[in-house]
Amino acid sequence: MFFRQWLRRPLSIAAISPSSRFLARRIIEALPAGTRRVIELGPGTGAFTRAMLEHGIAGNDLLALEYNPELQSYLREQLPSIRVVLGDARDLPGNPEVRRFLDEGAVHAIVSGLGLLAMDRETQQAILAGAFELMGEDGAFVQFTYGPKVPVHPDVMAELGLQGERSGFTLRNLPPASVYVLRKRGKAA
Ligand SMILES: C[S@@+](CC[C@H](N)C(=O)[O-])C[C@H]1O[C@@H](n2cnc3c(N)ncnc32)[C@H](O)[C@@H]1O
Repeated sequence: MFFRQWLRRPLSIAAISPSSRFLARRIIEALPAGTRRVIELGPGTGAFTRAMLEHGIAGNDLLALEYNPELQSYLREQLPSIRVVLGDARDLPGNPEVRRFLDEGAVHAIVSGLGLLAMDRETQQAILAGAFELMGEDGAFVQFTYGPKVPVHPDVMAELGLQGERSGFTLRNLPPASVYVLRKRGKAA
């Protein structure tokens, strides 16, 4: 499924293979203590989604937002216990299913499987502004990257008042990858 989608839409997939279980473990380790309700952006074939369910996040407390309709219906079939919503991460607050999920309870973390590094500044800004609008000041945005630093343009970090901290790294992913946690400046890990 991943490779079929990669052949069709390489730019939006922005990865050469699905994330490994080792990278998924680094994502789980980056979740703040006590995290219960999570939104996942760009779940793809579900590498991080499955790890979160195995970690103990309840199906009802997990919403995955994917904008590729084939991946969305694939994941919906594979993981019927969670909400897999078709939508665009650039307009998180405008998505009715995301709003409904938020009405049911606060979201503590947003896990991003998006290829943020390959996205332009405006797209990064829209995604992160929407994410922190939903989570509030104490939210944590957990992002993987193949690069050596926070995969967000410094101007976007400054405009949104964000700081980034590398929380993990693994060689056992193709390519090797790091995980960063973005928070509002002054908010402790
Ligand atoms: C790099 S792949 C990662 C897939 C999976 N999380 C993993 O790590 O194996 C990026 C995923 O984000 C999705 N995506 C890209 N842009 C998106 C957007 N604006 N809104 C929602 N999903 C998006 C793609 O369709 C793809 O499934």
